[in-house]
Amino acid sequence: MFCSFKKVAHARWVALYRHVETASLCRGGCGNTGPGSSFRKFSTSGKRRNVAMSAWVIDTYGKNDILRFTKDAAFPMINYPNEVIVKVHAASVNPIDINMRWGYGSATLNVKRDPLRIKEADSEFPLILGRDVSGVVMECGLNVSYFKPGDEVWAAIPPWKQGSLAEFVLLSGNEVSQKPKTLSHTQAAAIPYVAATTWSALVNSGGLNKDNCTGKRVLIIGASGGVGTFAIQLLKAWGANVTGTCSQNAETLVRGLGADHVVDYTAGPVDSQLRALERFDVILDNVGGDTEKWALSLLKPWSGAKYVTLVTPFLLNTDRLGVPNGMLQNGITIGKKALKNLCKGVHYRWGFFAPSGPVLDEVSELVDAGKIRPVIEQQFTFSQVPDALEKVEWGHARGKTVVTIAGVHQ
Ligand SMILES: NC(=O)c1ccc[n+]([C@@H]2O[C@H](COP(=O)([O-])OP(=O)(O)OC[C@H]3O[C@@H](n4cnc5c(N)ncnc54)[C@H](OP(=O)(O)O)[C@@H]3O)[C@@H](O)[C@H]2O)c1
Repeated sequence: MFCSFKKVAHARWVALYRHVETASLCRGGCGNTGPGSSFRKFSTSGKRRNVAMSAWVIDTYGKNDILRFTKDAAFPMINYPNEVIVKVHAASVNPIDINMRWGYGSATLNVKRDPLRIKEADSEFPLILGRDVSGVVMECGLNVSYFKPGDEVWAAIPPWKQGSLAEFVLLSGNEVSQKPKTLSHTQAAAIPYVAATTWSALVNSGGLNKDNCTGKRVLIIGASGGVGTFAIQLLKAWGANVTGTCSQNAETLVRGLGADHVVDYTAGPVDSQLRALERFDVILDNVGGDTEKWALSLLKPWSGAKYVTLVTPFLLNTDRLGVPNGMLQNGITIGKKALKNLCKGVHYRWGFFAPSGPVLDEVSELVDAGKIRPVIEQQFTFSQVPDALEKVEWGHARGKTVVTIAGVHQ
């Protein structure tokens, strides 16, 4: 029964693929059908299917030594008309890459990877890590009208897709955005994933935007890492008053990015230091753990103030309990916490990364206007990818760790 369902699903997928492929061979690509657009071959044809690319892959979950360099990784193919193949010029490493290398989130991510279980291989491996890309559009599906081959773009890659520690990556057009003109690829690769996460946490969960931040007091717990260094700059560009917590040796960095007030969490109990300050309208928590026990009491009660944490048990619960029971557990946990804090006059929320080309368009404008700059702590070459992951796994980030993949003038 299941087997026949699998066969039907596979046949439907093949039919859809053939439809896209045939249609693509019949017209110019990327929606550039106007005068001057040239008829071109659609390169995900049978010829391309045998082409391989270089990538760092993992074949199982575990420590850093499972990373394997290969020149035989599967070249991405456009399967849907809204897809884009990007040649990767630079990538970056985020804590999620380390977590995914250990298998974090695999229960939920595998459902997203292959919801109908139509893949012949019943496995997510070989898996490519890397959630940031800055590069050049190589190929577009028929419905992609916003980009054309040769465009310089950047994107944050959803964790259920193959990543950017490779020569090429496949994305949906709506996840991609024109890269800021003022940045090199290497600089640009430091921004998309933390930008999309911060935006989603502050805007979707925290209720902030460029028009309502003036006079708002925002606390960033963990201000010196990838998310923190981006969040400070975004909030300052929007006119908020920003307080950040960090280690003493990150104070200059955090202040230099525009934080109005910096609290050194290593100089005694951080909650007592923060309690001495005026209360906050929004708290973005990039640290988690015990912070939840004291942070919500720093919010202005009964004023719509919100605590948003990026460190949630969401994927851990589905890994531990399976997707249905994990989701149930997530609902119970968030429901209980939200209700308990609502009774005290404050909002408790979880924040999540959300891929979005349109968000990156807005960030691109802020970057080109000189309001946001990439904060790069260390740069690695493609051959040094394991070192880059080791560096991020060590912790104590001061901004981002980036990897140059292609091109000499990065
Ligand atoms: N939910 C989501 O979708 C989502 C998306 C992105 C990120 N995240 C999570 O959000 C967190 C932050 O991400 P990130 O990219 O910014 O990580 P990161 O680049 O590793 O930065 C973490 C920063 O926090 C600092 N820190 C550690 N303990 C601290 C404390 N007690 N008080 C203040 N600062 C502290 C670290 O420096 P020192 O140790 O030297 O102080 C480091 O600078 C990570 O846990 C990540 O997994 C979640």
